[in-house]
Amino acid sequence: MKPIIIGISGASAQVLAERSIYHLLKNNYDVHVIVSRGAFQVWSSETNISLPLEPKLQADFWRHRLSTTNGNLICHRWNDNSASIASGSFKTMGMIIVPCSMGTLGRIASGFSLNLIERCADVQLKERRKLVLAPREMPFSLIHLRNMTHLAECGAVICPPIPAWYTMPKSLDQMIDFMVFRLFDAFDLEIGEPKRWQGPQK
Ligand SMILES: Cc1cc2nc3c(=O)[nH]c(=O)nc-3n(C[C@H](O)[C@H](O)[C@H](O)COP(=O)(O)O)c2cc1C
Repeated sequence: MKPIIIGISGASAQVLAERSIYHLLKNNYDVHVIVSRGAFQVWSSETNISLPLEPKLQADFWRHRLSTTNGNLICHRWNDNSASIASGSFKTMGMIIVPCSMGTLGRIASGFSLNLIERCADVQLKERRKLVLAPREMPFSLIHLRNMTHLAECGAVICPPIPAWYTMPKSLDQMIDFMVFRLFDAFDLEIGEPKRWQGPQK
């Protein structure tokens, strides 16, 4: 199975990234992770824990935090544009950016690839691979909306992390997992099983 890239940018809801990595590894996927410079700040603001910058230490950190030895995990430095995944010749099934900041979204929309996340997003689009963006901002400005429209027209899947209430979630964790599973739906991955709408209960 080809690897999948998880880009984590500096928007709120870093837990969505964590749960995404967890479910992919648990299900034995090959996962490449890039944390943007902005995301390190937001991660520590939301967890009170510093995420290691050095790729090997960061991989150990995720392994320990997520308590799984399954799958394959490779972490990349946010500015390492010489990484394998920066090239279209390195095959992947695609990329999810979760959460996706408006800065990252805007730079991808303009083709202005400053860091490895933006370069990889650019590569997925040019190679016609799946690029799923989970933008988080509130409210959206017209610039954000136009950038999202532009990216949708270019082939990206705009998948904002919005919970559903028809699943009758009993906890925040259930809501989080539902949103993560819906991101995976874009790849048709057999991971977890979100409570899908089956029509009204008779
Ligand atoms: C605690 C915190 C929460 C933030 N939440 C958001 C957010 O939800 N959406 C967003 O677009 N930017 C958010 N930002 C701002 C981005 O982190 C900032 O624009 C950063 O430069 C984005 O960099 P990146 O796109 O390279 O990750 C937040 C910043 C902080 C410190």
